[in-house]
Amino acid sequence: MSAATKQIRQILKGHRCLDIIGRTFVKSGANMSSEIEKKFALPRRFAGSEKSVWVEYIQLASEYNPLNLGQGFPDFPPPKYATDALAKVATGENYMIHQYTRGFGHPRLVAALAKLYSQLIGREINPQTEIVTTLGAYEALYSTITGHVDDGDEVIIIEPFFDCYEPMVKYAGGVPRFIPLRLKSEVKGRLPSSGDYVLDPNELESMFNTKTKIIILNTPNNPLGKVFTEKELVHIADLCKKWNVLCISDEVYEWLVFKPNKHIRIATLPGMWERTLTIGSAGKTFSLTGWKLGWVYGPANLMVNIQMIHQNSVYTGVTPIQEAAAIGFETELPRLGTDECYFISMPKELEKKRDYTVKFLSDVGMVPIVPEGGYFIIADWSPLDSAQVAYLSVAVIMTVNNSNFDKSDELQAEILDDINKPRSNKRKKHVKTIKS
Ligand SMILES: Cc1ncc(COP(=O)(O)O)c(C=O)c1O
Repeated sequence: MSAATKQIRQILKGHRCLDIIGRTFVKSGANMSSEIEKKFALPRRFAGSEKSVWVEYIQLASEYNPLNLGQGFPDFPPPKYATDALAKVATGENYMIHQYTRGFGHPRLVAALAKLYSQLIGREINPQTEIVTTLGAYEALYSTITGHVDDGDEVIIIEPFFDCYEPMVKYAGGVPRFIPLRLKSEVKGRLPSSGDYVLDPNELESMFNTKTKIIILNTPNNPLGKVFTEKELVHIADLCKKWNVLCISDEVYEWLVFKPNKHIRIATLPGMWERTLTIGSAGKTFSLTGWKLGWVYGPANLMVNIQMIHQNSVYTGVTPIQEAAAIGFETELPRLGTDECYFISMPKELEKKRDYTVKFLSDVGMVPIVPEGGYFIIADWSPLDSAQVAYLSVAVIMTVNNSNFDKSDELQAEILDDINKPRSNKRKKHVKTIKS
C-alpha cells in the first residue's frame, strides 16, 4: 500500500469515524432533545401566556424602525430632585445603602408612603404592617394576586385591561371572568371620551357569585384612560361588600388625571378599606419607569399574604432606588396640592399633550377616544383604510414629549407622511401581525 493510499484510507477512516460519531451524536441528540422538550416543556399552568404584546411590539419596532408609539413611558426627564437624590445616594458616604434593606420595604420609603397615603385616604397607615414595597407595580400585582387567589376562585377583570392580569390570575389557579366597558350610547358631533365607556350595572351584578374572590379595578384605566366616577365605584364597592369580595385597585396612574375628572380611591369608600389592596408605582408617579419600584397598601391582615409571596420570591427591593424615591416623596409632601407639586404640574403638562395628540389623530382621519387620564390613547384607525380594522394604542407622552413639543409641526408632518405612504410589503406585514 502506497503512502498516499494509506493516507487516503486514514482520512476516510477518520471521516467514517466522524460520520459515525456524528450520526450517533445526532441520533442520541434527537432523542435527548425530544425527551428534554417533553419533560421540560412550559408547565401547564402557564400555557397560553407565551405571547406578550410588549415583547411583540418591541420586536416589531426594532425590525421596522417606525415612529414607536406603542409603549407607554416618558421620554422627558424625571424631576431633577429625584435624579439628584439617586446620584447622591449612589455616591454618598453611607455605603450601607448599597446593601439589602428591610424586605417588606425600605424604612425611609415606607415612612414617606405612609405619610402620603394617610393624608390621601384619611386614615393612619402603619408603615410596618400596612405597606409592602415591590419591584414595580408588576410585582405588587403578582404578589397580591398570587397571595390571594386559590384554585377555582373567580376573579372579575374589567376589559380592556392591563395584559398581565389574566395570566397572573391563571398562574394562581384562578378563573378570570371578563366584563367589558361598553360605549353607553352612540356619540354624535364630538369625539368619544373614555367616560362614554361604562359597565352595564346589571351585567356587573350578574358577574358576582359565591365563587367570586376578587375584582381587579384599574383607575385611571390602561389602555382606555377611563377614570371611574364615584357613582361607578360605589356600585362596585356595594357588590364587593354584598358578596364579601376583595378589590385589588391598580392605581398606578393616580396622578395622571385630566381635568375635570377626579381620582377617587375606592379604599376611601365606606366599608372598603378592610377589603381593598391598592397598588401604586414610583415609575408613573415620578416619570421614571426604569426605577421599577411599586407598592401595595391595605389592612394588615390582608398584607400578610402579600408579604409571604414577596419574601419567598424577591425578598427585598432595590435599596438605593427606594432611598431616592423616599427623598422624592419627602420633597413633595410639604407642597402636596399646591401648583408647585409635581403631582399637580405633571398632569397639566400631559393634558396639553393629550389634546395635541387627539387633534393630530383626528386630523389624519382616525377616531381617538379622548382619555380622562393615564398614558394612553386608543384610536380607531379603520377609517384610514376600510380593509384594515384595528386599534392603535398611542402613548401620549412618547408622541409629544417635551423635546418634541416645540417641533410639533415637524413631528405631525412626519406622522402624516408615514400614514399616507403607499403601503409597502413591510407595512402590510406589520399590520397583519398586529391584527393576528
Ligand atoms: C395599569 C398598570 N399597572 C401596573 C403597571 C406596572 O407598573 P410598573 O412599571 O411600576 O411595574 C403598569 C405599567 O405600565 C400599568 O399600566
